[in-house]
Order: sequence, then C-alpha cells, then structure tokens
Amino acid sequence: MKHVIAIYPGTFDPPTNGHLDLIHRGAKIFDELVVAILHNAEKVPLFTMEERLEMLRECTQAEKNVRIDTFEGLLADYAVAQGAQAVLRGIRAVSDYEYELQMAMMNRKLDPRLETIFMIPAEAYSYVSSRLVREIAQFGGSVTGLVPEMVEARLRKKFQS
Ligand code: PNS
Repeated sequence: MKHVIAIYPGTFDPPTNGHLDLIHRGAKIFDELVVAILHNAEKVPLFTMEERLEMLRECTQAEKNVRIDTFEGLLADYAVAQGAQAVLRGIRAVSDYEYELQMAMMNRKLDPRLETIFMIPAEAYSYVSSRLVREIAQFGGSVTGLVPEMVEARLRKKFQS
C-alpha cells in the first residue's frame, strides 16, 4: 500500500484561515501532511519560529495526520529527507500562478521525483495573505475571520503600545 507524504511549506507569518483551509483539504487526501515552516535567515519575521510553531500546532491539533516542522535550505532536499513524494501549495488567484509555476518547475528540476500539487482554498479566503493581515493588524484594523482567534489575540498583543 502506498503511503503518500506531502509537505506544505511556507513562512506562515502568521498562519491565516486560508492556510488552515488548505491544511484541512490536504489532510483529507494525503496519508501524512507535514506543514514545514521555512527558517529564512534573510527575513526578519513578525512572529518567531517558536511562536509560529505553537500557533500552527494549536490550530491543527484535531488533524491527526498533520505534523508541524521547520526547515532551512532547499525545500526539495528537505522533502526527500522526509520521505515525501509531494509538495502542496495553494493558488488563490491567477496572480499566484506565475510564481508558483516557477517554483514547481524548479523543484522538479532539483528533484524529478517530487510532484507539486496545487489546491484552491475556499473562496472566502481567496484574498487573504499573511502580509495583508500583518499590515492591517499593525494599523489597528480588524482581522476577524481572516485568522484563527488565537492568532488574532497574538497579533493584538504584538502591536499594543
Ligand atoms: O509562504 P511563502 O513565503 O510563499 O513560502 C515560500 C517557500 C517557503 C515555499 C519557498 O520560499 C521555499 O521553498 N524556500 C526554500 C528554499 C528553496 O527551496 N528555494 C528554491 C525554490 S524553487
């Protein structure tokens, strides 16, 4: 019997309801889904790696075949080390496609065994991004419904003066 492991990589700074929607969809079709947070030394994130791990773990505790992990370096190397056959990415709109296609092709070049699977999040989250959520929260706008309540509370705490 085939046991398909997929990696859902990203920055998750912070995790949004769009990410969670995709995790839920991915968990239904893969045997194991590893949500992998990129440790990017070139970017200063709003939330530390520890905070992002905690948030994602808390939000996905009901999904028994989902694991949260961190990685650095090439995604293709990490995926193969995890025994994964697939990379899961979300496409919200046509504007995402070019960047995603380029990454998928590059990952295939790096390791032809790796398939990238694209899934479409629920329509309600088609305009949600971590960048916009950070920006709205920074200026005191409401992010209710865009992120889990626990993430909303953490954002409020980050930006309270
Ligand atoms: O949530 P993001 O920021 O859109 O995720 C981007 C991510 C983490 C998937 C991408 O930057 C990545 O895979 N980085 C790891 C380095 C790598 O493998 N680079 C070559 C990709 S083609």
